Amino acid sequence: MSSPILYLSKIPAEAEFYQKFWNKRPFVIKAGIGSDVMEKLIKADELAGLSLEEDIRSRIVFSENWSCQHGPFDENIFNTIGEKNWSLLVQDVEKFHPPTGDIIKPFGFSPCWLIDDVMVSYSVPGGGVGPHLDSYHVFLIQGDGKRRWKIGREAILSEKYIEDIDLKILANEFAGDEFEVEQGDIIYIPPFFPHSGETILESLTFSIGFLGPSIAELLVEYGQYIEEQDDINKRYAGDKLDSSSAGNEMSGSEVDNFRNTLIGSIKSDHFENWLRDYFKANKD
Ligand SMILES: [Fe+2]
Repeated sequence: MSSPILYLSKIPAEAEFYQKFWNKRPFVIKAGIGSDVMEKLIKADELAGLSLEEDIRSRIVFSENWSCQHGPFDENIFNTIGEKNWSLLVQDVEKFHPPTGDIIKPFGFSPCWLIDDVMVSYSVPGGGVGPHLDSYHVFLIQGDGKRRWKIGREAILSEKYIEDIDLKILANEFAGDEFEVEQGDIIYIPPFFPHSGETILESLTFSIGFLGPSIAELLVEYGQYIEEQDDINKRYAGDKLDSSSAGNEMSGSEVDNFRNTLIGSIKSDHFENWLRDYFKANKD
């Protein structure tokens, strides 16, 4: 069932958030973050400064042709790209400008351990990254300026993209609601809900992203952890083989032996210790 975008008068209580919204339904909170918090966050010129740095991930998206350039940038670029139809996006800003990390504090009702980063975008009128969807949850907090958003009423699970361009832009229109945001307004967008923002007045937007690891990432990272622990990194020694083990094919019970070895490793305290550290390390 689809329903119109919901305006909340304040940040939801925890129980309400997980029951009604998390993974289920977008919402908007007008003036959800006070100007006392907003004024301590990074400013546009400082953000542009970060995009010149070698080890900081940044990109500029041009909305006229949905092209994209990746940083680090030469500072002259900002004198040459005009005053319309582009956005600068910088990842992990909370690491390079710690006061910007304070934007997370009002979101204690969310699973903060799962937060991937705070991405900040600066955009000029007409700027935006186009109609798209993300595989992660996001809170968008509007800083200075004004933007118009359209958010779909339902998740899209079989999306089609425009071919032969730099960005993943949805090829088809989506049904959704349009609204404008100003400083301090909060938007929550669950994964796979299509959305599109367009800047009306020169804007800063703060995106708190909750990007969970893939199974492959978990297995690779846990594998690396085990490799460093000699006492648990045991090699397969062919215990309990019998006559069914002869020849080129493994028996079903041998496959089970391997499966149980892995399950045993994941059921151990090592896995829990590693997993807790894994999400803590994401925050450092
Ligand atoms: Fe997005």
